[in-house]
Amino acid sequence: KKVVLAYSGGLDTSAIIPWLKETYNGCEVVAFCADVGQGEEELEGIQEKAIASGASECHVVDLKEEFVKDYIYPIVKTGAVYEGEYLLGTSMARPVIAKAHVEVALKVGADAVCHGCTGKGNDQVRFESCFAALAPHLKVIAPWREWSMRSREDLLNYLAERNIPCSASLTKIYSRDANAWHISHEGGEIEDPWNEPSKGIWTMTVDPMDAPDESETIQLSFDKGELVAVDGKELSPYNALMYLNEKAAAHGVGRIDIVENRLVGMKSRGCYETPGGTVLMKAYKALECMILDKNALKFREQVGLEFSHVIYDGRWFTQLSKSLLAAGASFAEDITGDIVIRLYKGHATVIQRRTPNSLYNEEFSTFGEDEVYNQKDAEGFIRLFSLSSRIKALNELEKKAG
Ligand code: ARG
Ligand code: SIN
Repeated sequence: KKVVLAYSGGLDTSAIIPWLKETYNGCEVVAFCADVGQGEEELEGIQEKAIASGASECHVVDLKEEFVKDYIYPIVKTGAVYEGEYLLGTSMARPVIAKAHVEVALKVGADAVCHGCTGKGNDQVRFESCFAALAPHLKVIAPWREWSMRSREDLLNYLAERNIPCSASLTKIYSRDANAWHISHEGGEIEDPWNEPSKGIWTMTVDPMDAPDESETIQLSFDKGELVAVDGKELSPYNALMYLNEKAAAHGVGRIDIVENRLVGMKSRGCYETPGGTVLMKAYKALECMILDKNALKFREQVGLEFSHVIYDGRWFTQLSKSLLAAGASFAEDITGDIVIRLYKGHATVIQRRTPNSLYNEEFSTFGEDEVYNQKDAEGFIRLFSLSSRIKALNELEKKAG
């Protein structure tokens, strides 16, 4: 009996190790830790910690470039935004983590996988849906749905009784989830939707009210939908995102505070910081607006809406997901050009755009004389465009006249 546990080094997953061994009669616990850009702090000394808590081995897998290149960028091409605001940072990372988790499980010959998600959230659904699609034979263990422990105090006592060292504190106000794209904050005082989030909740961005009085600009260059350079520098996908994050965070860009619909039916309040992602998505959209015609853009928006639910609901490894990603990739083939964004006190504003694929043409859009657009043509166009309205109105007039 061998279980691979998604381990974070935090209190919950530290307690899960001895619990698994006790509950599943002495099974071996292998810790798996995904590096999706959550930062050095969380990963420091994680292997030693896992072993100290009783894991037989600990696999730290670097997924940073893969996450940005193969998950985030394809999602950006679909334009997915959940319920109009959430840039899906936590949701996006689940499939890449689950895939690596399963790979470790297969490599070490495990018969089960285990995660530390609660039974009330989205993440359990996302991870387990990925497991089902990738390795249906693996048993899934979700301790929060099984054990009777409910508080941090319970968990600390559980570890203390077993003499397992743990540096976690009794109080931890927020539930946070960080990666290269974002950080989320839930719980604490924001559970009351009438409470303004306290200053201390935000960790990634400067408070827009404290942001510099001088604005800054940033240039993003795309080739066939791929971000190929920022401020003229060619960087790897992950490094480009880090560069955007640093610049945008310094100006307080990318904070949102929302109430959202969880997949399991309840609503939850969350604060999110997605500095670089906010800039990237704005720039991408601005370029699309130059390139895609009305019907193409409308359909791309529908793809984005549809895909936001695919990602939020943990349905990455599905037929629908594949098809929508293919649509995003197809639109992306024309998305080439440069966008300049001004960062200033929490705002990211598009100020310059250029593209070889532009359908925007100053000469056509201007009010002067030109050859492709004859104003006389508009008359017939409008008559036919509004024909059904005209017929209906005429019918009504006739009825009234008797
Ligand atoms: N509500 C967000 C989502 O569902 C964030 C979830 C945060 N997850 C966490 N394990 N703290 O995507
Ligand atoms: C959790 O409940 O584990 C985190 C929140 C969520 O998954 O929605």
